[in-house]
Amino acid sequence: MAASAESLRPSTAGLLLRLWQSSLGKKYVMAITGLILFGFVVVHMLGNLQFFAGPTLLNEYAEALKSKPPVLWGARLVLLLSAVLHITAGAQLANANKRARPVAYANSKPLVSTLANRTIIISGLVILAFIIFHLAHFTIGWVDPNYLELRDLVGRHDVHEMMVRGFQNPLVSGFYVIAVALVALHLSHGVASILQSLGLRSKNTEPHLKKLALVAAAVLFLGFCAIPIAVVTGLIR
Ligand code: HEM
Repeated sequence: MAASAESLRPSTAGLLLRLWQSSLGKKYVMAITGLILFGFVVVHMLGNLQFFAGPTLLNEYAEALKSKPPVLWGARLVLLLSAVLHITAGAQLANANKRARPVAYANSKPLVSTLANRTIIISGLVILAFIIFHLAHFTIGWVDPNYLELRDLVGRHDVHEMMVRGFQNPLVSGFYVIAVALVALHLSHGVASILQSLGLRSKNTEPHLKKLALVAAAVLFLGFCAIPIAVVTGLIR
């Protein structure tokens, strides 16, 4: 009996699975999830910079972010899913590349090699370790449970004071600066790769894309580092 046209049409789930199984599909997944994670990092840095405006603005902002739990948890779920897909697709692409060339090149230096693309996997792994520490530090309060009990004059969680206390420890501040430098290094390659995977790279745009990625990485590095450095040097107490 001939199968109907309806039963021969692949389902959306089937199409998505086939896309995921191809290396082009995985590159798209990496680009889209990378873009979501990059967007979060930019918004997070801009939000953090309110630290310099004092406790009122920062604590108000932190409270507003937590005032709608369904939105907060929805955003957390999207971030978590993006991170898991980004890491899984990245690991599978790296394995596939290795399998395609089991014997290393005699001269293992890639033709186009920058520090950022040679270290993309290791910087990604250190960022993962940093995020786990960071969540334990400021979000879950495992490093010091008192951090979550701090209250400002109007009874809000005193995120400003939590940051000041957190970064008074030079070891913690040093770790944040190193981690943020690796985030910047990862992004200086990652942003250019995302734009390439989304088909925005051509001979004409390539130099601009590289510059754009470098500028974005430098701005993020300076923006994130400013807080631990301001505290550890005693500029903000
Ligand atoms: C010096 C740099 C940074 C500072 C001062 C900082 C500060 C904070 C603070 C205070 C919170 C907790 C907010 C609250 O619960 O009220 C937080 C949460 C978070 N940060 Fe950072 N952060 C920094 C860098 C980063 C970087 C580079 C990343 C990612 C690569 C990151 C990812 C996160 C995530 C995923 C959360 C949890 C958000 C949630 O509650 O769902 N942070 N950060």
